[in-house]
Amino acid sequence: MMSTDLLATAYLLSAVLFIFGIKGLASPKTARRGNLLAMAGMGLAVLAVLSSPDISQYSWIIAGIVGGAVIGSVLALKVQMTAMPQLVAMFNSLVGLAAVLIALVSFINHGANAAHYSALFMTELAIGSIVGAITFTGSLVAFGKLQGIVSSSAVSFPGRHFFNLLLLTGMVALSVYFAIDQSLWIWAAITGIAALLGILLVISIGGADMPVVVSVLNCYSGWAAAITGFTLNNELMIITGALVGASGAILSYIMCRAMNRSIVNVLIGGFGQTAADSSAVDLGDRSVKAAAPADAAFMMENGNKVIIVPGYGMAVAQAQHAVSELVDLLIKRQVTVKFAIHPVAGRMPGHMNVLLAEADISYDLVFEMDEINAEFATADVALVIGANDVINPAARSDKNSPIYGMPILDVDRAQQVFVIKRSMSPGYAGVDNSLFYQDNCSLVFGDAKQVCEAILQAID
Ligand code: TAP
Repeated sequence: MMSTDLLATAYLLSAVLFIFGIKGLASPKTARRGNLLAMAGMGLAVLAVLSSPDISQYSWIIAGIVGGAVIGSVLALKVQMTAMPQLVAMFNSLVGLAAVLIALVSFINHGANAAHYSALFMTELAIGSIVGAITFTGSLVAFGKLQGIVSSSAVSFPGRHFFNLLLLTGMVALSVYFAIDQSLWIWAAITGIAALLGILLVISIGGADMPVVVSVLNCYSGWAAAITGFTLNNELMIITGALVGASGAILSYIMCRAMNRSIVNVLIGGFGQTAADSSAVDLGDRSVKAAAPADAAFMMENGNKVIIVPGYGMAVAQAQHAVSELVDLLIKRQVTVKFAIHPVAGRMPGHMNVLLAEADISYDLVFEMDEINAEFATADVALVIGANDVINPAARSDKNSPIYGMPILDVDRAQQVFVIKRSMSPGYAGVDNSLFYQDNCSLVFGDAKQVCEAILQAID
């Protein structure tokens, strides 16, 4: 058993390790160390909790840890990189569910010991349950959208904002009444309304805006944990929850800026919704030009500057190693090669950076959108590998498009654009891409890995 002082010291040390862990994640060079520090912090936190004098019975805790560790390890080993956002959404939902269940158990246990609860305790319970239930159901819907089980387009109905406001008002009024009445049924009603709100808020968000939604839900899950820390009187949980909540809020803000969305719209939901027929951009009877891998190879090896734009398709095809070889070969031929990374390319923040780092592509060649966008005008070739929404000029010009206003990579300004993709299917947002019909754009149809290998052979 740890003394209270020792326990507080262990909690403090864990919190410090978490902070340094998050700091490490800020750069790909220190990310591995950051992860190790955070894991050490979590290990210490678990040991500290287990040696706390408050714990008298270990069997359920050990069963939970073993069960969770087995499920977590199997999922982590099996999950594809492309399915990481779904996994994160599922984890967020479990944090929300845990917050709701802890509030319920605290309410029932407390009832056994005291006749009447303090108003502060009741408020904690209500807020914890509300944030937890919204996180739980909202994250489940986000999981469904990302997995393709639920439609990725925005689902809406007339008077939606009014209905949501009505639910919100009812929930707040019931929470006040809960502090006085202190009945389990009122708690169930508040939690039920919050769960419904979670569904309604996320279901009304369009596919292209899912990155912001996942980070907002991540932020909610942090605050749900922090509030639960107050209920359980556990300082470490308050600190950890606040860290997750605050970093999730900062990430949401960064994502909103990257997508040119307002954070207020995100919080009230439905911000991705636009006119129903928005995907039907009038492209007239224009046709696309198809090119062979050898054409792309010829243009690139004879150019001065090539900018490569990776997207979700590169992740699906696992083409990063072939891309890495291609870059080496072009650099050997005195061609300047740079990568342009859109903040929401792929399916999770930093998705492309992780893949390029995995293929040992130098960080010096990799540039964020704002750093490189002006350079497309001076590039001989823009090679797009499985990206679509993040290069769609409709975001600049088509007011009816669901992606209107989102900053894009200006590939259309390069002298020649080659887009590697398998078909004419749209990207995640389901919007046709007017770039493909431009005179300076050719499509190289095929799996990204196979096409990159064919380009390599053609250059050799
Ligand atoms: P997308 O717009 O999703 O386009 C991916 C393209 O890759 C598709 O056009 C697809 O066309 C092609 N593709 C798929 N498999 C391929 C393969 N094996 N070989 C070659 N091409 C392949 O990707 P993006 O431009 O990276 O944009 C990301 C989108 O996801 C944005 O709308 C973003 O908002 C959303 N999103 C992002 C995140 C984060 S945080 N990054 C999270 C959730 C959602 P074919 O089927 O014709 O091959």
